[in-house]
This record gives sequence, structure tokens and C-alpha cells, in this order.
Amino acid sequence: MALSTYIPYHHLLFLFLIFLHAQPCPAAGGSWSVLLPSIGISAMHMQLLPNDRVVMYDRTDIGTSNISLPEGKCRPNSTDCSAHSVEYDVASNSIRPLMVLTNVWCSSGTLMRDGSLVQTGGFDDGYRVVRTYKSCDTCDWQEKPNGLSKSRWYASNHLLPDGRQIIIGGRKAFNYEFYPKMSTSESTPSLPFLVETNDPQAENNLYPFVFLFPDGNLFIFANNRAILFDYSKNLVLKTYPTMPGGQPRSYPSTGSAVLLPLRIKGETVNEVEVLVCGGAPKGAFANANKGIFDGALDTCGRIKISDPNPQWFMETMPLARVMGDMLLLPNGHVLIINGASAGVAGWELGRNPVLSPVAYRPDNQVGSRFEVQNPSTIPRVYHSTTVLLRDGRVLVGGSNPHDKYEFSNVLYPTELSLETFSPSYLDSNSSGLRPKIILPVTNSRIRYGKQLVVVFNVSGVVDLSSVSVTMVAPSFNTHSFSMNQRLLVLDGGAASKIIGRSRYQVVVRAPPSGNIAPAGNYLMFVVHKEIPSPGIWVQMQ
Ligand SMILES: *[C@@H]1O[C@H](CO)[C@@H](O)[C@H](O)[C@H]1NC(C)=O
Ligand SMILES: *[C@@H]1O[C@H](CO)[C@@H](O)[C@H](O)[C@H]1NC(C)=O
Ligand SMILES: *[C@@H]1O[C@H](CO)[C@@H](O)[C@H](O)[C@H]1NC(C)=O
Ligand SMILES: *[C@@H]1O[C@H](CO)[C@@H](O)[C@H](O)[C@H]1NC(C)=O
Repeated sequence: MALSTYIPYHHLLFLFLIFLHAQPCPAAGGSWSVLLPSIGISAMHMQLLPNDRVVMYDRTDIGTSNISLPEGKCRPNSTDCSAHSVEYDVASNSIRPLMVLTNVWCSSGTLMRDGSLVQTGGFDDGYRVVRTYKSCDTCDWQEKPNGLSKSRWYASNHLLPDGRQIIIGGRKAFNYEFYPKMSTSESTPSLPFLVETNDPQAENNLYPFVFLFPDGNLFIFANNRAILFDYSKNLVLKTYPTMPGGQPRSYPSTGSAVLLPLRIKGETVNEVEVLVCGGAPKGAFANANKGIFDGALDTCGRIKISDPNPQWFMETMPLARVMGDMLLLPNGHVLIINGASAGVAGWELGRNPVLSPVAYRPDNQVGSRFEVQNPSTIPRVYHSTTVLLRDGRVLVGGSNPHDKYEFSNVLYPTELSLETFSPSYLDSNSSGLRPKIILPVTNSRIRYGKQLVVVFNVSGVVDLSSVSVTMVAPSFNTHSFSMNQRLLVLDGGAASKIIGRSRYQVVVRAPPSGNIAPAGNYLMFVVHKEIPSPGIWVQMQ
């Protein structure tokens, strides 16, 4: 509908005038390191678990991978004895193969309250399967056939305040459902927004960007626009304006999006903002299929969705990007990483990998928010992934634009490697500023609204006025979107010195409600002058 509407020229002219042009960028930062040259699979999906392991999986229908299942096992009714899922252990920098039975290709998931990953859908025999992975040394996937009411391929999930997850959309699935279900007859409400944003040629609305708004409703962005949605009443509460330019941002014109840090004040969050960056222009999918690779979008749209009359504010990135990931760093900066500068998502349809991440500082003045970071040497194009680790490093893996594993004589060979990007806050010259959390101890339970005393030490000179405490929800990453990603800046006073030369405390208040912080596992950080401590795990309950 809105999608095929022609944009009048005077609109484009107007947009051109309000677009901000990129400022010259300050010096690069951060560093890269290869952790493992091969984990045996190409990591298409990733989730950090509360024991500092990362569960990863690819597809099951690509033939054999480069890692065998343990103890000579093979998938039942199959000659495939290779693994398509692995668990990476951060502490030992090692992997363990896992057995996934049904096809998990282009699926979705959410870490649940109890710390297990509940993953939904996939392709073919996996369309309606729900799989659970609860980590331990010998644990493996548990699968539930027909756990979903509808086939879900390219859907997005989010953890809800009631502890369930919502699963939205998917290919030809213009509806949503919940898991677990209240009853076997629970309905699958329709979501006309997904029909309205569906481009008949390119779709351009898959893997919608879904965020839990602090009043309990959902912000859902697909293609080039968004709604605020009351899922319990199946009611669209607000329709946000189409992003200026009207260009698509969703798969296969894959951009990315984050909910900017939520600063809690008392019972609420006064300003709620979403940032959507990159994508590919209209027609890019059809063009790419004809061998014409259109340049990626270099714009971001930022919208204060808490405003009564929100409007998009456009900014220009220093590097155009499609299939990039956007990751919230513990200090509230946004890292834009991976992807390409031409083409779209899909087999063989991306070109010109973008090797340099870009940092975005949401609180800086307009014009000084973006900073290009040091490049990797490894292209991470279609089917690449990234998650934040507890120590503040960014784990990067995957990339396979081919429908099989191809290691030679192709553009962008299948990547089996894992590497990390260490943002500049991990530079050794910041070690004097880096806090270390002493209390609470890791895996502490945090109760809604309760006062929380956070004790930390810093070896160098401390600026007590620039200390904050943040909590990050570990997100499920695939196809350039991190589901369930949110960063909370806790409400609290200035830090004070307590014992000895280098020990301090800051008193903050735990998040006030499940709408702001659904119960479950979070990483907590003390941030001092934009340098985060190593995180600790806490359980919000
Ligand atoms: C994966 O296995 C194939 C086939 O055995 C081999 O040719 C290739 O070099 C391996 N790739 C890596 C990155 O280990
Ligand atoms: C394997 O095949 C048999 C016979 O067709 C079938 O009964 C069984 O359910 C299959 N097992 C799996 C795990 O697909
Ligand atoms: C650390 O060194 C880098 C590169 O020389 C510099 O840009 C940065 O400002 C330094 N950081 C601190 C905290 O001194
Ligand atoms: C901070 O505390 C940790 C753990 O108690 C300790 O290992 C470290 O040496 C302390 N650092 C400083 C600067 O006091």
C-alpha cells in the first residue's frame, strides 16, 4: 500500500534539505583479534547465556559442516554426522558441538527468565518447532514439534513482562503468537501492519524491529515505518510517520535498529528513542537479482517515540551499510558493525563488505556522534552475527552468502572464524579509570524498585560525578537484528568514597517494573567516564 506510493519530487528536495551531512570523523579506535580460526560452523544465530557461553547455530540443510557431532553420533534418519550448532565457552575459548534435529535456518529466539534460550521456527521441518537450550557441560537442544501455531521463518521475538515471549511475523505470516501458550487453543491474532508494509516484489518487512516500550506496549518497525502496538488487545495505538525518504530498512533491504538507552527516573522513563540505521534502497532487491548492486543507505532515522507527536530526525553515517548490526555497548554508545556497502541480503546478493565499525554516541552534539573504528580484515556479510560479552568485548562471527559451505573460488567465502572487536574503552591506557564491581556479587537477585548499593574500585583518579550503573539484556542476534536488546541506566545519586584509597559506592534503584525490565538475566556494569567495568550477571525478579 504505502510502499508502492510514489514520492513526489518536492518531498525529496525537502528531505535533502533536512538531512545532515557527515562531519569529518575523529581518529579511529578499537582493536580486532581472531579468537578461533574455525568453530566448524558459520554462526548465523548467536545468544550469550548467563554462564558466559554463547550458543550458536547455522542451518541443518547445508550438508556436512566442519565439525563432527560428539561420540560418532549422527542426526536420526540422516547420513549427516556433523554438528550445525555449537556452544562457545568464553573463559576457555573453546567450543562444544551440539545436536539440533530440525532446520533452524533464519529462525528467532529469546533468552527466557530461567536463562534458557527458547528458539522458534526455521525452515521446512523446522517451521513450527520450538527448541530450548539450557546450558550445562553436557546439555543439548530439546525440541518440541508443533510448538508454534503458524510456520515462522524470518520472525522477530521479544521477552514480555509476563515471562512469555511474543513471536511476530515471518514469511507470509502476517500475525503473531506467544510462547509458551496459555492454552492449546490460544489464537493467533492477525497483524495487518505486516500486510501493509509487505512489498509485493521484495517483502522488505521481515525480521521486524520490535522493542518493548516502557508502558508495556510494543514498538514495531517494518520496512519504512512503525506502530505502537497493544498486543493484548490487538490494537494499534499509534502510527508513526514514514521515515523521510521512504526507503526500506527491513530484510532483505536489511538495516538495523536499537532502542537507545533507557534512563530510568523514578517509576518511569521520560524519553524513549529508537535509532534505525542503514538498509538498501527500493528496488535494490530486484536489481541485485539482475546483477546490479545498488549502494546501501547511509542514513539513520532517530525518533523520540515518547513524544506526543514524534518525528524522525535524519543523520548521515560516515559509511553506507546494508546488513550491519547495531549493538548497545555497556556505556550506552551504539556500535554499528558488519555488513556491506552495496546490494541486499540473500544468496550472492551483497557486495563490498564494510570492514570498519562505526561508533555512535547518542548524547553527543549532532555532527559529532559518529566515529569510524579500526577495520577487521574479515568480511562479515550476509549471515554474520555479533553479541556483547560480559567483559565488554564484542563477539563477531558467521558470514555465508552461499547456500552451501563454499571455501574457495567464490566472493566472500563461508566464514567459520570467531573474532572479537574490543572497543577503545578496553585500551590498556584506560585501565586506571576502569571500575571493578565488588558488590553485588555475580548472580545476585535484584528486586523491582529496591535500593541497590553498588561497591566498586578504581585504581586511578576518580571523577565521582561521572559514574553510572547500567544493565544490559543479552540479546538474540541474527540477520542484523538483536532481539530483546535493551540498556537501562539506573536511577541514582552520585558515587561516594567509602573505604581505603580506591573503594567507592553508588546507591541506585533497581528498575521499577517488568515493563521497563522484564524479569530475567541482565549484565550489570559500573561506567566511569564512559569506561565500563567488566559486567556481572544479575537476576531481575
Ligand atoms: C572445512 O572442510 C572442508 C572439507 O573438508 C575443507 O576443504 C575446508 O578447508 C575446511 N574449512 C575450514 C575453514 O576449516
Ligand atoms: C525416523 O524415521 C522413522 C521412520 O520413517 C520415523 O518413524 C521417525 O519418527 C523418524 N525420526 C525422526 C527423529 O525424524
Ligand atoms: C588512550 O590512547 C589513545 C590512543 O593514543 C587515545 O586516543 C586515548 O585518548 C587514550 N585514552 C586515555 C584514557 O588516555
Ligand atoms: C579491586 O578489587 C579487586 C577484588 O576485590 C582486587 O582484586 C583489585 O586489586 C582491586 N583494585 C584496586 C585498584 O584496589
